[in-house]
Amino acid sequence: MTERRKIAVLGGSGAQGSALALRFAAAGHEVTIGSREAQRARAAAAALSTRAGEPITGADNRGAAGAAEIVILTVPYAAQRTTVTAVLDQLRGKILVDATVPLIPPKVSVVQLPEGRSAVAAMQELAGASVRVVSAFQNVSAAHLGELGHEVDCDVLVCGDDQRACDVVIGLCADVGLRALYAGPIGNSAAAEALTSALIAINRRYKVAGGAGIRITGIPKK
Ligand SMILES: NC(=O)c1ccc[n+]([C@@H]2O[C@H](COP(=O)([O-])OP(=O)(O)OC[C@H]3O[C@@H](n4cnc5c(N)ncnc54)[C@H](OP(=O)(O)O)[C@@H]3O)[C@@H](O)[C@H]2O)c1
Repeated sequence: MTERRKIAVLGGSGAQGSALALRFAAAGHEVTIGSREAQRARAAAAALSTRAGEPITGADNRGAAGAAEIVILTVPYAAQRTTVTAVLDQLRGKILVDATVPLIPPKVSVVQLPEGRSAVAAMQELAGASVRVVSAFQNVSAAHLGELGHEVDCDVLVCGDDQRACDVVIGLCADVGLRALYAGPIGNSAAAEALTSALIAINRRYKVAGGAGIRITGIPKK
């Protein structure tokens, strides 16, 4: 493990957040599930603790964000801005890892970026420079992440304006067996967000169990 980190997963009662919480806890990080309802967070945390074999705590989103050094956001696009706004004062000086994909049901296999721009870059604009926003996990399915011991055969694209924050997230990914690659400034998150709709279209056309992912070729081995 790179370094034991205090991680909060806002919306961690859901599919993607639960899967990430499980992986990070099993790798030895200190994980708190955040929810709009503290009781729902505690229930999800108890169930995940059993599976991870490590303690996971639960709190409301503000409490979870306040206690963490790294905050992961895993809520639906429609809830992204209100969730970040509600905890913004707890995020100063911290890394906010945003997994949001701006999917607009029912046409989730069609790219619908907000006014042609990135949903995650919009959070960097909202939060200002004191919050180190990093985009990650848009192209990795909860179904793959949620199975501990299952090797996740896809790369994670990591975008952000703060290189050191991106490196921390790349290290966290390595801790849970994921190869993550720095993919440019926060505006490039639009590419990762758009790719998800393409992956959903691929899943439908080829009946992909668990969800298709991406691999980047040509990276020199260290
Ligand atoms: N699922 C995947 O495989 C996957 C893969 C890549 C990226 N993502 C992205 O990750 C994010 C989460 O996806 P998900 O599938 O985990 O979503 P989800 O299960 O539908 O929701 C996650 C959590 O968000 C909270 N939430 C739901 N509606 C809300 C609302 N209206 N206001 C505030 N909070 C609300 C809920 O937590 P509480 O009720 O406990 O507050 C819920 O458990 C999305 O942006 C998605 O595009 C998902």
